[in-house]
Amino acid sequence: MKDKLLAFLPILPSVIYVIWTDYWRLFVQRVGFSIAISVLAYFATLRLIPIFADYTLKKGLSGKDLGKKGTAVENNDVPEALGLVCGIVFLISTILSQLMFATNDKQLVIFNSALFSICFMIFLGYIDDTLDLKWRYKLILPTISSLPLLLSYSGSTAMYLPQPLASFLMSDHKLTVLGQLINIFAVVDAEANGKIVELGGWFLLFMGLQAVFCTNAINILAGINGLEAGQGFVIACSLLFFKVYEICSSGTNNIKENELFAILYLLPYIGTSLGLLSYNWYPAKVFVGDTFCYFSGMTFAVIGIHSHFSKTLLMLFIPQILNFLYSVPQLFKLMPCPRHRLPKKLPNVDLLTYSTFPCESSRYRWFKIRSNDTECPNCTILNLFLRWFGPMHERSLTVCILLFQFICSALAFYIRYVLLE
Ligand code: UD1
Ligand code: MG
Repeated sequence: MKDKLLAFLPILPSVIYVIWTDYWRLFVQRVGFSIAISVLAYFATLRLIPIFADYTLKKGLSGKDLGKKGTAVENNDVPEALGLVCGIVFLISTILSQLMFATNDKQLVIFNSALFSICFMIFLGYIDDTLDLKWRYKLILPTISSLPLLLSYSGSTAMYLPQPLASFLMSDHKLTVLGQLINIFAVVDAEANGKIVELGGWFLLFMGLQAVFCTNAINILAGINGLEAGQGFVIACSLLFFKVYEICSSGTNNIKENELFAILYLLPYIGTSLGLLSYNWYPAKVFVGDTFCYFSGMTFAVIGIHSHFSKTLLMLFIPQILNFLYSVPQLFKLMPCPRHRLPKKLPNVDLLTYSTFPCESSRYRWFKIRSNDTECPNCTILNLFLRWFGPMHERSLTVCILLFQFICSALAFYIRYVLLE
């Protein structure tokens, strides 16, 4: 019960803010249909997961819960890839939501190309879960899936910078050295005093890279019960709050097209991921699979691109960015990378500690606890938390990381709307 109440915490700021600013009528009028669909999507996900779990288990699509080694349930098969249910219910809900959005052909193209990319990503994620692809292929999948989105993109290809960042490109109406460098391959708008950089074709490359990053960054911050679904849920609630804040503080009683797009994608995502989270929460009854990680990453990338807030989106990925940067030596094979880097269970106690890989005592000194150790901790922030704070229960570690994600969102909000305003 305590955990269920905790799960509603990330969504509370949006609800409270809408009621407090008296904008709730506008929201009910413009997105009431989508709110209702998303609530239904939550219950549909809750209902469908046990049914699909039986099927995946029967077909052998399951995994062992590695955080339960040495316990009575160590050999139990946990159904895998239940992100599929989330994805299907999300697609149905979002297809219906376009009734609220698409009033002309251009909007229909935007809405459906975005859906096509997400649908493609769910399909490729499910392939990954069934075929267990190698890492090099995992990097290519999001690039392929983002093609429908990129090829039908007809929006602005300019990057808008807040004044403090623009001053790195132009000062006293002259280009700085950095501004001149950027001006070689893009156009720094002098009239806008560096606040607009026209990226042209580079913008498409940036969008593609963003899709690759978002999908894989979630997939590698994983391995303990509730973390994949939990981080997706917290990021989505934070994005929703950012949009709600922009609408309610705009002073106009209106929701702009790009804001509406983001909200219509976020609400069903929040509903379905919350449904999945209740089964994936410790002790996990199902695993979300790469299907969910890719589906989540692509949904966020799509929202960032079409809602024109890619930079803010990256700020909400601070834990994932830190985890990715710390993982670089293992991901790019500068250090050995075991198949699983998730924390390991301590024998006889219900606690997790950092996992390691064997190495020569003279190697990777910077990454080890004592420089002459023959074991080096795997480079993930999960293991780093366990090194700093000591062994922890699996549920506590998930709560700690999700709390960290929540604090990072608050920090991103402060940077975006206070420091850079
Ligand atoms: C990524 C990580 C890997 C991590 C794995 C866990 C990198 C380069 N890869 O690999 O280090 O171990 O995710 O998801 O960082 N599992 C649990 N408990 C959970 C969730 C998953 O034990 O709460 C185990 C299960 O055996 C499950 C498996 O992880 O079957 C799923 O791993 P998979 O998603 O296929 O791993 P990758 O995404 O390839
Ligand atoms: Mg995975």
